[in-house]
Amino acid sequence: MENLDKLKKEALQLIEKAKSLPSLKELEVKFLGRKGQLTTLLRDLKNLPENKRKRAGQDLNILKTELENTFSKKEKTLEKTDMEANLSKEFFDTTYPGAERQTGAIHILSQTQKEVEDIFSQMGFMIVDGPEIESEYYNFEGLNIPADHPARDMQDTFFIEGKPDRKQGRLVLRTHTSPNQVRAMEKYGAPLRMIVPGRVFRNEATDARHEHTFHQVEGMLIDKEISIATLKGIMKEFLSRLFGKEVEVRFRPGYFPFVEPGMELDFSCLLCNGKGCRVCKKTGWVEFMGAGMTHEHVLRAGGVDPKKYQGWAFGFGLERLVMMRYGINDIRYFQGGDLRFINQFK
Ligand code: DAH
Repeated sequence: MENLDKLKKEALQLIEKAKSLPSLKELEVKFLGRKGQLTTLLRDLKNLPENKRKRAGQDLNILKTELENTFSKKEKTLEKTDMEANLSKEFFDTTYPGAERQTGAIHILSQTQKEVEDIFSQMGFMIVDGPEIESEYYNFEGLNIPADHPARDMQDTFFIEGKPDRKQGRLVLRTHTSPNQVRAMEKYGAPLRMIVPGRVFRNEATDARHEHTFHQVEGMLIDKEISIATLKGIMKEFLSRLFGKEVEVRFRPGYFPFVEPGMELDFSCLLCNGKGCRVCKKTGWVEFMGAGMTHEHVLRAGGVDPKKYQGWAFGFGLERLVMMRYGINDIRYFQGGDLRFINQFK
């Protein structure tokens, strides 16, 4: 019994003093391991006389449980201090900026197209869509441009291989959004107020001002007693809303087979307010779009009676508008895929 007391005292003291998990483990082996001191005593019980054996057995087991509990308590304490020590070694700066995520953005042409659509729909125009692969008929004949007409040379066309249709002719990549004038009149009849934004294609050598793939916005208004004055008012209003300031417009004569009379519309240069600068080539005006009163052949092609209705149409390039607005000097940036360009318009 005396030995037992000594053993208990020694064990408790050593456990108390243990500084690390490995040294605690060593102590556990020393007392409770297979060859440990307490284990040995338990094994030696059988050598005691029977009258003492029971009592000694109980005492030994009580001590064993007590030591086991003390070991596991101490183990938990040591684990906790270990963790705290590690944490205080690692400095974590919560003000450090996180890893930035790359986000996508809407292309500047699409952003502008949306603005154009919003303004025109506020003025009662519907937004119409049409095929990019178009028939020769809608792209040319329906617009009063017959096969042998020199006006076809104005637009270098991508033709799609294949047998021509007897009525529709060959398939082409549309060279302008104008084919939708006839398509819309066929579909919706008169009166009509619509714009068609979309992608167009020309078989063109590219340079800073020319691209084989670009975007146009077509507009058309058909009603009774319509004149060019309405067009002038609508375009002045549209451009002023888009640029957020009063814009002037002017007409010059121009030739397009699908309008009569045909004209071109310029707007007052926004950079110099009409005084003359590099962008407007010192004229004070920026060339903007083609327009005119819709030719009666075109009205008829669309199933509209020219005796009852008149109308006008216009077409402008979206790239031109964006280039003017942001001072971009090369049209090839738009489709070039260079993120340094694209990301400026996030
Ligand atoms: N489609 C013409 C082009 O691509 C632009 C145009 C001119 C459209 C006059 C029109 C218009 O609607 O009336 O060059």
